[in-house]
Amino acid sequence: MTRTTVEMPLRSLVEHLRIRAAGCARRYVLGIAGPPGAGKSTLSKSIRDELNLRAGSVIAEIAPMDGFHLPNAVLRATGNLERKGEPDTFDVDGYLDMLRRLRDNPVGEPVPWPTFDRAIEEPTPAGVIFGRHQIAITEGNYLLLDDRESGGWSTVRKLLDEAWYLDVDRDVIEQRLVRRHIRGGRTADAARIKVHDSDLLNADLIAGTRGRADLVLRQREGRYYAAEA
Ligand SMILES: Nc1ncnc2c1ncn2[C@@H]1O[C@H](COP(=O)(O)OP(=O)(O)OP(=O)(O)O)[C@@H](O)[C@H]1O
Ligand SMILES: [Mg+2]
Repeated sequence: MTRTTVEMPLRSLVEHLRIRAAGCARRYVLGIAGPPGAGKSTLSKSIRDELNLRAGSVIAEIAPMDGFHLPNAVLRATGNLERKGEPDTFDVDGYLDMLRRLRDNPVGEPVPWPTFDRAIEEPTPAGVIFGRHQIAITEGNYLLLDDRESGGWSTVRKLLDEAWYLDVDRDVIEQRLVRRHIRGGRTADAARIKVHDSDLLNADLIAGTRGRADLVLRQREGRYYAAEA
């Protein structure tokens, strides 16, 4: 059972990031990890928008791990389409290469980053382009995995200046994901099968990576709290 402790208002999280980023000579990279449906994309957008609002200019952008889903044609050809979403169905080397560019290329030099189009379940090359952004928020399921869990992923943690884990109860994830699969066109039965046979297994794997985060957050009624195990 996870206990929630101190409330972490968005403005405190953002202020902390601004201070950390100001003390960093290159682009600052925050990672937000957590199970599917935890609300990582939602939190990332809130943090990005608040950072930009407070700065009065565009200083932050999101670099989704989801942009590195292998294309459906590749997964189909290798018989892995049904396993889409598992750690080895991503181009982890491509993700690492682009994370290094985000960190090391001078701010101002364009770095195109692929996004993920949920409507067609395919990556969009150069869906977003980093330029003068001083802060990159990379978010996804497997940021804190180690190589025993799946090859290659452990290097991601080394490239993050800071990592947060967004925690959420398993039954909440289950409800959210079933709803999302139904919205995406699956029948209720097919949605439940996908959630039980795939999403929740990934969620359990990811739950084991929580201890590698600098900060564990839980969300309740629109507010975020620091959590401890
Ligand atoms: N703070 C919140 N309160 C209530 N619902 C939320 C909250 N944050 C996210 N959700 C809902 O949960 C679902 C998943 O959110 P989101 O897409 O941000 O999760 P995610 O962690 O990015 O998932 P995935 O790993 O599948 O990309 C969405 O339907 C979203 O509306
Ligand atoms: Mg997401």
